Amino acid sequence: MSGGFAPMSLQAQAKINLCLLLGPVRSDGYHELVSVILPLDLADEVAIEPAGGEGPDLVVCEGVEGPNLATKALAQWREASGWDGPPVRLTIGKRIPVAAGMGGGSADAAAALRLVAAAAGRAEDGLLAQIAPRLGADVPALLRGGPLLAEGLGERLTPLPAPAPAGYLIVPSAGGLSTPEVFAAAGELGLRRDADELAAASADLRRASRSGEGWQLPGRLVDLNDLQTAAIALAPSIMDAIAAVREAGAPRAFVTGSGPTVIGVFDGPDGHARASEAASLLDGLLPAPIVCSPSTGSATIVKQA
Ligand code: C5P
Repeated sequence: MSGGFAPMSLQAQAKINLCLLLGPVRSDGYHELVSVILPLDLADEVAIEPAGGEGPDLVVCEGVEGPNLATKALAQWREASGWDGPPVRLTIGKRIPVAAGMGGGSADAAAALRLVAAAAGRAEDGLLAQIAPRLGADVPALLRGGPLLAEGLGERLTPLPAPAPAGYLIVPSAGGLSTPEVFAAAGELGLRRDADELAAASADLRRASRSGEGWQLPGRLVDLNDLQTAAIALAPSIMDAIAAVREAGAPRAFVTGSGPTVIGVFDGPDGHARASEAASLLDGLLPAPIVCSPSTGSATIVKQA
């Protein structure tokens, strides 16, 4: 151990939205929503160690330009907790596509919170759940892990049993999309639903999930993403990706989150194998498709030897 704590690492899991219903916009510009969030075994590797010296906390994320939400997470933790431990270096090994609608930046920020709290010896601190929503709408869900029903802005969370088994083929896009722009376009396109529709969807999802592990989304909500039309309006090439994924054998294909990533879903226990076959048919596509399985729990912090 050096500088006060042992180096540690954590898998920061990506998420997909199995459905996403967009509701009314609030005065602060955020939208009410109802969504089923499913974390995946696709994850960034986030590591923390003492930085040494007197400097500020450092976040190193090779290949990603600009301010990093993880830097804000560290600063908010120090401010809220009063922790004055040694400067930390946080290193993010990126695997989750960037600006892809898969919550990569939010997952890294959630992992940064868990790691710095563990470094401070306060891993179980309820303070993390208070800080998370200030960092972004997806951060509370990714902090918690596991399948969740997300409501409000995304911060009102109800744990769900694991949905029916499926393999997921992730098809990232060469370019990213700006989340605020996609939400704004959805408003302009008249895609918002009223509060009653959201409440009905929430009730239907709760009812369906009561059948326990292996539950199925109600038919009308399967693959429903209200942001998809807005994402396609901003990036029409998404249509080509959806067509390619269907052609490669995916019975279902849709945009996840605010896009532009397209998900092919292969239902059943053999879904992962079928998704792998489809990925081989998309050989040559860039960025390369990724085959994933759901992750049922939150990742464990690993102390480095
Ligand atoms: O919270 P986060 O920074 O991830 O959100 C990015 C943007 O997405 C927000 O600035 C807002 O424009 C939009 N958003 C929204 N309603 C939500 C979540 C996000 O309008 N519930």
